[in-house]
Amino acid sequence: MTIYAAKDYLDLSRKAANIISAQITLKRNSVLGLATGSTPVETYRQLIEKYRQGDLDFSEIRTINLDEYKGLSGEHNQSYRYFMNDVLFSHINIDLKNTNIPDGLEEDSEKECSRYNQVIRSMGGIDLQLLGIGGNGHIGFNEPSSFFEKETHLVALAEHTRKSNARFFTSVDEVPTHAYTMGIKNIMDAGKVLLLASGEAKAITLYDSFFGFVTPEIPASILQLHPNCIVIADEPALAVIREKTGWEGAVYDN
Ligand code: GLP
Repeated sequence: MTIYAAKDYLDLSRKAANIISAQITLKRNSVLGLATGSTPVETYRQLIEKYRQGDLDFSEIRTINLDEYKGLSGEHNQSYRYFMNDVLFSHINIDLKNTNIPDGLEEDSEKECSRYNQVIRSMGGIDLQLLGIGGNGHIGFNEPSSFFEKETHLVALAEHTRKSNARFFTSVDEVPTHAYTMGIKNIMDAGKVLLLASGEAKAITLYDSFFGFVTPEIPASILQLHPNCIVIADEPALAVIREKTGWEGAVYDN
């Protein structure tokens, strides 16, 4: 993997948007794996800006999102469908029919998971997968576990995750207990992975993920084995890596 140091959140977002823009420019019908959470919000804003300036065309782009809360409809303002429409899709010339997110209202989890795996396959795989990282090392909603889940599955959200996502709801009790998420194999099959980490709350898990053992206890650690993984992290998120490895540069290749 290669780690790029960003001086702050804006710098991180601009770098990420440049990489995604290059992907779109080089392949106009790219399949983009997209992420939610607060980290990619400014990256999406930068992409919208590039679209408005006439530099990007999303008309042939297809997207597939990592995850969705089970039990929330796409109209619920905390669903990931609502989030994606709100922060990106409604501002660019993407065809909504080409955007995919698990259906949070599908009760039959086996049915929904196999439908979603089929969608990924029918798209011919993911060209570039954007990721954030949870404070406990989760990617998508692949929570710390004793094994890596391969494909889309229903997950019981970790207490840590529900507490940290409570800031978007009126109380922790309103945070859904379960979610649908792509699995680790779906993510590892992507041609490129772009993981973003911002803020000191991610510093320990970022170090553990990329400098520790590969273990399902820290799901992001599997990315050490991805042949084309780029990490962009701002200085607060890099604090522990800098301290423990002595790395002082702008680019770290491993
Ligand atoms: C959520 C999402 C993840 C995201 C993570 C971090 O739980 N399912 O895809 O990476 O939280 O969120 P944030 O970027 O707000 O720190």
